[in-house]
Amino acid sequence: MTGTTTRVREHYSAASLTGRIKSALAAVTPEDQPLTVAQLAPLDQFHIRGILATAELVSAAEVEPSTRVLDLGCGIGGPARYLAATFGCKVTGVDLSPGFIDTATYLTARCGLSGRVVFQVGDALHLPFADAAFDTVFLQHVAMNVEDRAALYGEIRRILTPRGRFATYDLVLHEGDVVYPVPWARDASTSFLLSERETRTALEKAGFNAVLWRDDTQTALDWFKAAMAGSPASAPNPGLNLGVVMGPDFAAMTANLARNLSENRLGVLSAVLTRD
Ligand SMILES: C[S@@+](CC[C@H](N)C(=O)[O-])C[C@H]1O[C@@H](n2cnc3c(N)ncnc32)[C@H](O)[C@@H]1O
Repeated sequence: MTGTTTRVREHYSAASLTGRIKSALAAVTPEDQPLTVAQLAPLDQFHIRGILATAELVSAAEVEPSTRVLDLGCGIGGPARYLAATFGCKVTGVDLSPGFIDTATYLTARCGLSGRVVFQVGDALHLPFADAAFDTVFLQHVAMNVEDRAALYGEIRRILTPRGRFATYDLVLHEGDVVYPVPWARDASTSFLLSERETRTALEKAGFNAVLWRDDTQTALDWFKAAMAGSPASAPNPGLNLGVVMGPDFAAMTANLARNLSENRLGVLSAVLTRD
């Protein structure tokens, strides 16, 4: 693992996360009761527009019950559980953070989905899978943490079947300097953003062809505006949010992300591609 990857893992180290999440969930439902994917959505969808964005991306990727899915950089597993619960498919989640994988496994058991969703610690640049092991790969808000983008897309191509699908939803660089900290990095040393054009070139060089390529920046801005207009205390379970996962300064990181978007420093890109 490179020094950069180690620093990224530290950013998501999430000390005692499963314990903190158990405490936050105790206010919602007793520990011996099952949880639903919808109940967990404010907590476990670690990207702009949360479960709405996941639902849009998976629908564009045309997942079926027989599709073998890898959710790469799966966080605490919200998108993976959504996929399995919605389509009945089997999903493997891989993430750098052992704390995230522990929590993902716990929450998946609470949702009764352990038979269809499994998680393991791993680095996206060295995946522990055979060539062509998956039909579809999801990558949501992860690429900006990966320094060697060519290696990342090359590794995804390797583990996909021919004509397999790669669905990605990530930040891209627009103009000017990014204001830090942001949810994926406290400073520029673990943030590796590319422009939309550079992203497309890297994907095409790796052997992918776009079937969907969409600038979602305005949709993201509208979502932030609506979220900021709503009162957090009016949420059904105000204690369930990504601050539990990332700590008390998560609100400041999110505010900087919204600022970077509104000042045209960053943009949001959704894409679905096929492997040649
Ligand atoms: C912003 S979170 C997104 C989590 C998840 N995709 C979601 O949307 O809910 C970024 C995730 O990428 C993971 N990550 C970053 N670099 C990685 C790498 N090289 N290999 C595997 N996971 C990585 C982090 O540990 C973190 O969980």
